Amino acid sequence: MPKYTVVTMPGDGIGNQVLPQGLRLLKAVDFDADFIHADIGWECWCKEGNALPERTVELLAKHKLGLFGAITSKPKKEAEAELASALKGKGYSYFSPIVTMRQRFGLDTCIRPCISFPGNPLNFIRKRPDGGFEEPFVNVVVFRQNTEGLYAGVEWTNPPEQVRAALATHPKFKPFSNTAGPDLAISVRIITRHAARKICRAAFEWARKYGYKSVTICEKPNVLRETSGMMEDEAKAVAKEYPEIALWSTNIDAQTMWLTKNPEDYGVVVASNLFGDVISDAFAGLIGGLGFAASGNIGDEVAVFEPTHGSAPKYAELDPPIVNPIAMFLSAVMMLEHIGETEKAKQIRDAISAVVKEGKVRTYDMMRIPGGAKAIGQGAASTIQMTDAVLAKIETGRELALATAGERELL
Ligand code: NAI
Ligand code: MG
Repeated sequence: MPKYTVVTMPGDGIGNQVLPQGLRLLKAVDFDADFIHADIGWECWCKEGNALPERTVELLAKHKLGLFGAITSKPKKEAEAELASALKGKGYSYFSPIVTMRQRFGLDTCIRPCISFPGNPLNFIRKRPDGGFEEPFVNVVVFRQNTEGLYAGVEWTNPPEQVRAALATHPKFKPFSNTAGPDLAISVRIITRHAARKICRAAFEWARKYGYKSVTICEKPNVLRETSGMMEDEAKAVAKEYPEIALWSTNIDAQTMWLTKNPEDYGVVVASNLFGDVISDAFAGLIGGLGFAASGNIGDEVAVFEPTHGSAPKYAELDPPIVNPIAMFLSAVMMLEHIGETEKAKQIRDAISAVVKEGKVRTYDMMRIPGGAKAIGQGAASTIQMTDAVLAKIETGRELALATAGERELL
């Protein structure tokens, strides 16, 4: 029996192109696992009225480890229009399967590393006063609270009377009290102390484990006094247990400005759901963007790893596929690290590093040319060629390791 079972959910569009390539790497490092396919995404919604079928939920509940590609989400009206005619009008509503998955399994900790690979032509560079350029090394890991905040889903257009009545007890609601129901949209930002403390603790634990000097709490407590205030209070309380790590506090707006000024100063960054989503994309832009942005959604029992990008429908039908699979590879690396397979994780990461550094094999995004069918003719590597290049480096790495071990034996 293999040691692990991984539930693989390619999903929609380019998820189907990158996930199988990720599996090739996992197999190449002899990861001792069974891979079980599970359905998720737009087709499930259209045919079954549920983008996250119960059978997929059951597989995840059983095996506890998932690797996910990407899904397509569409606005409410389009979702209703594309639902199978037999299901129309039967009360089905579309919910993003990822948000649902995070909430069902309490995947409350989202980890998004944004670490530059030397030699990546997409790395952020900064102009020096003398006219030259420098490339600061970005080594940031964003911890995003994944289940609460503005994404908790408690929202209305035309809120019920009881909600209006409750809001009317707050003096600041007065200017809105005469707005007609259909003209009033409300999304509630919910933060619980338990979840705030948990995400802050996860951030500090990571900082301690990997030797980061600082944790930055990135909120807006001067305006969002209650919710951001609670996040910051908890960060301060947790920080006391980690005296070797500095706690910095920044506001989300200012942070997006500073991040291009001095990105090398930041280590671990922690934020609530929406702000974490924003700031992790902003940092990812400094290290290569969507082709390099990986993430882990971690709960107490279940963990699911996924590239940050979506299904990129405009490239989904291209043959050969052109999108960059590195974000998927790094998600697989995160999965290996999470379960303690650090040696195998290192093999894949080192191989990616070597390919990027060498610069011979680059997907279209790394060449800064438009994507599309012509990209390959312009010298871009296909998704498969990029995978082949990484596989070749894994092989070289193994030969080197064997040779070194052999030399040691001779000594
Ligand atoms: P997207 O991330 O799918 O693609 C945006 C653009 O980024 C693409 O057109 C492409 O130019 C580039 N890109 C994305 N992944 C790339 C890769 N691996 N290599 C090179 N270039 C890449 O976002 P978009 O177009 O806003 O959304 C498309 C669909 O994906 C929507 O239905 C959206 O709801 C969904 N989505 C799903 C996510 C998920 O599954 N986690 C996250 C974001 C969007
Ligand atoms: Mg996002």
